[in-house]
Amino acid sequence: MQYHLAPLFCRPWTLNGITPRLIESHYEGNYGSALRRLNAITEELEALDPTTTSAEAVNRLKRDEAAMLNSTLLHELYFASLGGDGRAVPETMAAALARDFGSTDRWRQQFIALANALAGGSGWVLLTYVPRDGRLINQSGADHGQNIAGGIPILALDMYEHAYHIDFGANASAYVAAFMRNIDWSAVEGRYEDATRVAPPRPLEQKQFAGVPAMTVEEVKAMLDSGERVQIIDARPRHYTTRAQDIMEGAVWRDPERLDEWIGELSKTDPVVTYCVYGFHIGCETAISLRKAGFDARYMAGGHYAWKAIGGKVRLFE
Ligand SMILES: [Fe+2]
Repeated sequence: MQYHLAPLFCRPWTLNGITPRLIESHYEGNYGSALRRLNAITEELEALDPTTTSAEAVNRLKRDEAAMLNSTLLHELYFASLGGDGRAVPETMAAALARDFGSTDRWRQQFIALANALAGGSGWVLLTYVPRDGRLINQSGADHGQNIAGGIPILALDMYEHAYHIDFGANASAYVAAFMRNIDWSAVEGRYEDATRVAPPRPLEQKQFAGVPAMTVEEVKAMLDSGERVQIIDARPRHYTTRAQDIMEGAVWRDPERLDEWIGELSKTDPVVTYCVYGFHIGCETAISLRKAGFDARYMAGGHYAWKAIGGKVRLFE
């Protein structure tokens, strides 16, 4: 596949304290060369004979491809980050920064600190939206890699020396200040709004158990910590428990196959939480059987291993 050059997004003559000469050199020399290298690597990859090429050679090319692809994406975002006055942060954007950083000022201080820490080195400082968490995060990445998986950068500051030496020499902090004076906040806000429309990763869906009330392990932990009365049933299958070494503290193990034998021990006034090994079937089915019998039963999503993964207490299982 052939990658295409994006036209320069910002208008260089409108920038405050960053000269057209710098932007032109950056666009043509660095962005352009990254794009040309990306296309050359892509061609090389496409021409490879997979039957005779070593895995190492493919791996090297793929690594270079990722770096150059990221370089082109980040440069396009960098040029599209400039062209504003840096100060007027529109309402939606200001509210998002306040939510995730405390205030626009606190965001700014952290962003600049990351940039200054890269002075004399090379890399990027990015403001990135993470759909999974529905929040913004600042990040600094050395070279062109190390971006947050699944994150969507919406503001980029290039801290490679080529981005400032023509105008600022080694004075990186003056360059960072000039960058901040030129941020196009309404463009950033537009990208933020687009990013928030990206769906978070799909959650685990268990259609057959859609109607069964579930609790997260965090909710169960909070319930136990608060001292609320609850009956916790470990319903891991018997064949599994013969090699199980531990059990959630506060739980009792009951054979899910013999529900009729132990259901009479349970109280109908206190809630019941059941779980199995990973939370897929047995725990849910046990909760369903208990609900049919009139108990306030729910299953713990993720089961025994989710409980251990949050550091929930366990005891020896005998
Ligand atoms: Fe650059």
